[in-house]
Amino acid sequence: MKISSAEFVMSNSNVAKCPNEPLPEYAFIGRSNVGKSSLINMLMERKSLAKTSGRPGKTQLINHFKVNGNWFLVDLPGYGYARVSKKDKKTFQKYITEYFEKRKQLVCAFVLVDIRHDPQPVDLEFMEWLGIHQVPFTIIFTKADKLKPAVIEKKADTYLQKLLDGAWEETPPHFITSSTDRTGREDVLGYIQNINQD
Ligand code: GTP
Ligand code: MG
Repeated sequence: MKISSAEFVMSNSNVAKCPNEPLPEYAFIGRSNVGKSSLINMLMERKSLAKTSGRPGKTQLINHFKVNGNWFLVDLPGYGYARVSKKDKKTFQKYITEYFEKRKQLVCAFVLVDIRHDPQPVDLEFMEWLGIHQVPFTIIFTKADKLKPAVIEKKADTYLQKLLDGAWEETPPHFITSSTDRTGREDVLGYIQNINQD
């Protein structure tokens, strides 16, 4: 997919105030620091469309970006980072879950996990929650540049096997990405394009 325009539309903490347009929407979610905002910038080929940081907890609101005038990308705050105060964490949880429960335009959630890490309970619980709420999702493995090519696929397979060992009967689609070297860009954009054309 060619990106001809990508513009920031709004940030807010209230799902009811998100853009009132019936455009298909794709949300990026995952633990703090996993690389959600960086991936959005990589996909859009824009250095700082979404704000990134080495310090977890950078993205604190629901951020809408309009792409090619006909779909939305949504950057969400991370979950599961201990250093954010308890009160803030609760607020994140509330509006993240509200977003997924209420946002009718949402087509697919991209759940990002760091390819280097073994499956973490907080991610598995979040995927289970999405399943219960019938939110379609795919898994995006991030930071593939941090592993040797020979072990990347194996690591992803082991992760997906863990889902099959748990409550899942089949695994969701998955993508292997690196925002540093642009791995997976065409795959993720192609996936979105296919859905948008259906
Ligand atoms: P929060 O908004 O805090 O939840 O974080 P986030 O998930 O949006 O992560 P962000 O994109 O801000 O990136 C966090 C850190 O990881 C930054 O220091 C990025 O430079 C780094 N990072 C993100 N993606 C990659 C990647 O593909 N490869 C490498 N090596 N580093 C990455
Ligand atoms: Mg972020």
